[in-house]
Amino acid sequence: MPKEIGFTTNQIHAGEDESSSATPIYQSATSFGGYLRGGNPTLEAFENKMLALEGGKAAVSTACGMAAVSQTLLALLKPGDRVLCHQTVYYWTTELMTSVLPKFGVQVEMIDMTDLTVLQEALSTETSVVYFEPLANPKLDVIDTEKAIALAKKAGAVVVVDNTYLSPYLLRPLTLGADIVVHSATKFLCGHGDALAGIVIAAESEYGEMVSRSRNIFGGILSPMNAFLLLRGIKTLSMRMDRHCSNAQSVAEFLDAHPHVNRVFYPGLTSSPGHKIAKAQWQGFGGMVSFEVDGQERLTNFLEGIELCKPWVSLGDVGTLAIGQGGPNRVRMSVGLEDVDDITRDIGQALGT
Ligand SMILES: Cc1ncc(COP(=O)(O)O)c(C=O)c1O
Repeated sequence: MPKEIGFTTNQIHAGEDESSSATPIYQSATSFGGYLRGGNPTLEAFENKMLALEGGKAAVSTACGMAAVSQTLLALLKPGDRVLCHQTVYYWTTELMTSVLPKFGVQVEMIDMTDLTVLQEALSTETSVVYFEPLANPKLDVIDTEKAIALAKKAGAVVVVDNTYLSPYLLRPLTLGADIVVHSATKFLCGHGDALAGIVIAAESEYGEMVSRSRNIFGGILSPMNAFLLLRGIKTLSMRMDRHCSNAQSVAEFLDAHPHVNRVFYPGLTSSPGHKIAKAQWQGFGGMVSFEVDGQERLTNFLEGIELCKPWVSLGDVGTLAIGQGGPNRVRMSVGLEDVDDITRDIGQALGT
């Protein structure tokens, strides 16, 4: 037996009640004397599985990704604190940063962390929290996670990383020194578009206790049924991510050669900004592709014309999803697990070729 258990073995076995082929759903509001808002055995199985996959000392599951983000930041921050956040993060995270936290006396600066000199300069003023997504929604900016964490830690800040787009199979920010990782588990972790969920994984148990208390106060608790669906989805995470990556690479190359596509953003293309960092730090380039078509009418026709691919929000599902997002004439595509020729054929017909 190898000394260290492999990722795929952990995604299947870690955290599970191994006396059953699937961990039971403890649906009750009170189990073993504990009240569900504080956690229960089905939630703990999901949390322990994520601990095995991300590393760290404590994990707290939440109702959805935004519950993970908001309950973490509300646990960490107090009036007078300062937060540095990358300038493009998930829409509702931006709203939390720019319109909610300031109401509680927290100063937030949205900065371009793809340029580490900007981060370094901003860190010369005292900073409580540094927050970013290594592959940033919706424009697919790539952030040098290793260097950004090192700079932030040196300046004494707590580093919170939203790892939704990559999953622990492709990047494990805690191993690079991050203090807290959050996920919208609704996406690649779940993988099937059938449950909203979130998770917070902390390098130190002290942060875990703070976020667990915050969950008890704000109430963003995961439902036991969704924890069960997450346990099931994660069992195939590595296989799904491999296929997301290879399909997305093929789709990006197909788009790159397409006459109606002006530009393609995919970290797996050598022409994409961030390719070198992604290659050095990640185990694969992910399932998200962003591209710009040659005009507004083309964008509308594309989104109305796709048949196999769905014009829906969310990402990380088994099926391919596409929306207009990230700038003028830009499409954000979450490349699914279908036969890749079927995906490119659908894209081709919707682009009008
Ligand atoms: C990067 C990222 N973080 C957080 C969220 C919020 O997650 P949820 O929809 O599960 O609340 C999303 C949702 O799209 C996301 O893309």
